[in-house]
Amino acid sequence: MATEIKGYVRPVNPEKDSDALFDVCKKTVGPALRTGTPNLIAPYIWNVPYIRMCQDYCFAVDNGDGNAVGYVICAPDTPTYVRRFAEEYIPVLESLDPILKKPAMDPPADWGKDLALGVLQCLYTPEHMLNSDYPRLLEEYPAHLHIDILPDFQRKGFGKKLMEALWTRLREDKIPGVHLVMEGGNTEALKFYLAIGFSKFDDVVNGGKSGETGKDKNGNLWMVKKL
Ligand SMILES: CC(C)(COP(=O)(O)OP(=O)(O)OC[C@H]1O[C@@H](n2cnc3c(N)ncnc32)[C@H](O)[C@@H]1OP(=O)(O)O)[C@@H](O)C(=O)NCCC(=O)NCCS
Repeated sequence: MATEIKGYVRPVNPEKDSDALFDVCKKTVGPALRTGTPNLIAPYIWNVPYIRMCQDYCFAVDNGDGNAVGYVICAPDTPTYVRRFAEEYIPVLESLDPILKKPAMDPPADWGKDLALGVLQCLYTPEHMLNSDYPRLLEEYPAHLHIDILPDFQRKGFGKKLMEALWTRLREDKIPGVHLVMEGGNTEALKFYLAIGFSKFDDVVNGGKSGETGKDKNGNLWMVKKL
């Protein structure tokens, strides 16, 4: 008899799940950010603020024993999220962890040389999420998301189930579309997004320096889906 896969998708419970989801983010973030200070800062950009400010749009994979082993987290309206990030979240950062003290913002860090500074500057510039040079992105796809699952629970259908739970929630609010920005080298995730109905944003971004639609000058892919 085939072994039954334990686990299911449920809403995130911030009180119970925050530490586990923080840990999932640290373990699944892109390889360059998986060690040292950048790894400690990364969840404060790509995990914590969503669970604090957009709880109703966050879903977890529960391993069947009450422990969260994966998540999809989403801001349903990116401009509102960026405003709240600046007004509500940045002011409390230092109280969450002293390593989050605001750095010098000028000059912008060379990520290749000082990754920790680059990540910290990113934390203090939420407006980058507006991608203001491409207004069509947020007009048509105002929500954005992050999804990560621990390795033992990948390729078992939980990613798709997380997305379906989120889409149902976003449709209830008549949100027309969702986008995400991913590292171009993450070919496994790209296969997942294409399989579940995302496509590359079909504008040529950054003046076409990358030579591809939906790919920015840093090699990141902008993926979109109508709801
Ligand atoms: C990417 C991720 C969220 C996908 O979730 P998942 O639970 O592994 O994916 P699912 O099992 O729900 O896959 C759904 C479908 O997507 C496709 N798919 C997913 N991963 C794939 C892969 N590596 N290769 C080919 N197809 C893939 C398949 O069609 C799959 O359906 P199938 O298994 O019936 O063939 C998960 O693997 C993950 O967290 N990876 C590490 C962190 C990460 O890269 N996050 C995204 C950052 S942008």
